[in-house]
Amino acid sequence: MYKPTLDYAQQLDKEDNLAHLRAQFHIPKDAEGNDWLYFTGNSLGLQPKQTQEYIQQELDDWAKYGVEGHFEARNPWMPYHEFLTNSMAKIVGAKPLEVVVMNTLTTNLHLLMVSFYQPTKTKYKIVIESDAFPSDRYAVQSQLKFHGFDIDEGLIEWKPREGEELLRIEDLEKIVDEQGDEIALLLIGGVNYYTGQYLGIKRIAEIGHAKNCMVGIDLAHGAGNISPELHNSGVDFAAWCTYKYLNSGPGSLGGLFVHEKHAHNKDLPRFAGWWNHNKETRFNMRQPFDVMAGGEGWQLSNPPILSMAAIRASLDMFEEVGMEALRAKSEKLTGYFEYLINQIDTASIKIITPSNPKERGCQLSIQVKDADKSLHKKLTENNIITDWREPDVIRCAPVPMYNSFEDVFRMVETLKTLL
Ligand SMILES: Cc1ncc(COP(=O)(O)O)c(C=O)c1O
Repeated sequence: MYKPTLDYAQQLDKEDNLAHLRAQFHIPKDAEGNDWLYFTGNSLGLQPKQTQEYIQQELDDWAKYGVEGHFEARNPWMPYHEFLTNSMAKIVGAKPLEVVVMNTLTTNLHLLMVSFYQPTKTKYKIVIESDAFPSDRYAVQSQLKFHGFDIDEGLIEWKPREGEELLRIEDLEKIVDEQGDEIALLLIGGVNYYTGQYLGIKRIAEIGHAKNCMVGIDLAHGAGNISPELHNSGVDFAAWCTYKYLNSGPGSLGGLFVHEKHAHNKDLPRFAGWWNHNKETRFNMRQPFDVMAGGEGWQLSNPPILSMAAIRASLDMFEEVGMEALRAKSEKLTGYFEYLINQIDTASIKIITPSNPKERGCQLSIQVKDADKSLHKKLTENNIITDWREPDVIRCAPVPMYNSFEDVFRMVETLKTLL
């Protein structure tokens, strides 16, 4: 059983065999040099110290070799994205064939919908969570419009029940049971950005596929946070970003997954560029388009090496630690955070994230009754970096790579006094 004392939190840090990782990150500090208590890895992950070295390597090779760096650089740029594939595939539980790093998340969702949203006159609707991330909502609305459908008629929202915050899988089942013949696509956030709820994506895939709907997952809040086992889940496609839990820098490239069952289907409609053309003949130029198998078959352009160098620096850390060890610490760290919050003697706060560790990642979303953004501001003034979401939720993500049990303890002590 946990204890609500600083000594106990420090003891947990001493026993934590991942505690050494914190020193491998730049932790932002206040003017006096005190570490911020950083709980916004769900928004922008911190910078690994080795990132600079990885980017510098590519800058040096660019200076040294110019265009020849595509072949002569220590890490040749021509196949550079391939250096990321195995580690990324492990993180999301996919086969290397199924994964590629490219573009950014919303762009990738659109490219995936070009292939996997193929509406007919009667089967054209798209299901999203009622509180889907706005970019996903705009993306599917624009797809409906692009295909000539009415947005309101074409969009179905999977909503929490009256008086509840979390989604129930039975309700999705009911929607698909009743309207499946009209539904072409389910596009669901694997971990909801607002509540932190981790939805069982294997079940979602089964529900969708039972009615011949395509199933896609937005893993922005899942990649590097939970272990989604994408291949075994059977979902058709997924996309995520690398700037949150994958610590790869602001606006860095995204990841894309297309299930193996679609890997060799050259007839799938898709957009094309020279980078999804067969790499063996790409530079012969003047060849008819010959699409590559797997995730690589959705690339269009040659990718930005400097951003990929930052991703590589981060993925090398994940490779060393492994998702299993990270998840084990994460469950304990968030469990301790939850325990401390539940010790606060007030009816004004409520954790809306599921209490079952299997149904959440590291984030807790704390609803504060009658609060406004000033609470968030006061936390920030106390060096506690959290994320405020209207109308009344503070999102906090203790990240197992760099947050400590002491961070969590100190955060809750401050929250208590502010409340
Ligand atoms: C769940 C989710 N989907 C989509 C996006 C949009 O990502 P991008 O700006 O990389 O397209 C975000 C960004 O935070 C997100 O959290």
